[in-house]
Amino acid sequence: MVGVGELLVGERVRVLAVMVMAVMAAVAVTDLEGLFSWHPFLMTLAFSFIMTEAILLFSPECSPVPSYSRKIKVRLHWLLQGLATVCALFGLAAISYNKALNNKPHFASWHGLCGLVTVICTCLQSVGGIFLFYPKLMRKWSLAKLKLYHSISGLVLHMLGSTSLLLGMCSTWFTVAVSGISWYMLALCPLLIALVIMNQITNSHRMKKRMQV
Ligand code: HEM
Repeated sequence: MVGVGELLVGERVRVLAVMVMAVMAAVAVTDLEGLFSWHPFLMTLAFSFIMTEAILLFSPECSPVPSYSRKIKVRLHWLLQGLATVCALFGLAAISYNKALNNKPHFASWHGLCGLVTVICTCLQSVGGIFLFYPKLMRKWSLAKLKLYHSISGLVLHMLGSTSLLLGMCSTWFTVAVSGISWYMLALCPLLIALVIMNQITNSHRMKKRMQV
């Protein structure tokens, strides 16, 4: 039975993700010259919103589609993850092209480096997901092991995304637009979202282990 408390946690995570996206969009429209403003918007959409919802789909407490069958949830999951990967690639293309136009060095900050690793891992995670559909391609590992590795690497990827987001919020571009208490409140959002995702994935493994005993 799902408690009201757990439902509220899920709804709050959604509100936080939408809040961060709204602020990114609001800051971005004040700076519409060039391609740059697409970068924070697309990245926040990919990692804070779409990827979070793609994982929350499987939550017994706060799934956006609790009554759907597991098969449909899996289908929605890969559709959303595919969409998040496309947004992340466009977000990376926007900043890279903008830097090339302005003759600025690439991957010269902690944010840039962490962001690059995040986008590469996002692509690898999507490719890794294919093995869950065709487990025979990976004879070395059983389907159960593949699922375990996929969810652990998914958790690490979500945490990497939250770290990149947080580092992006430390950039001059963002701190000039948002500062003081508003900045701290906004910076808390990716941390709280990451905690909820971490809790969901570790709980689901604990439950599976308990059922095996
Ligand atoms: C998970 C989300 C994010 C990822 C994966 C990411 C990735 C990246 C990458 C790879 C670069 C370097 C591109 C290059 O050097 O050619 C970069 C630059 C930049 N990003 Fe992000 N980003 C994310 C979110 C954000 C957010 C939310 C903001 C603003 C609030 C932001 C602001 C910037 C700025 C100002 C730069 C240029 C300066 C620098 O290289 O550090 N990013 N990002």
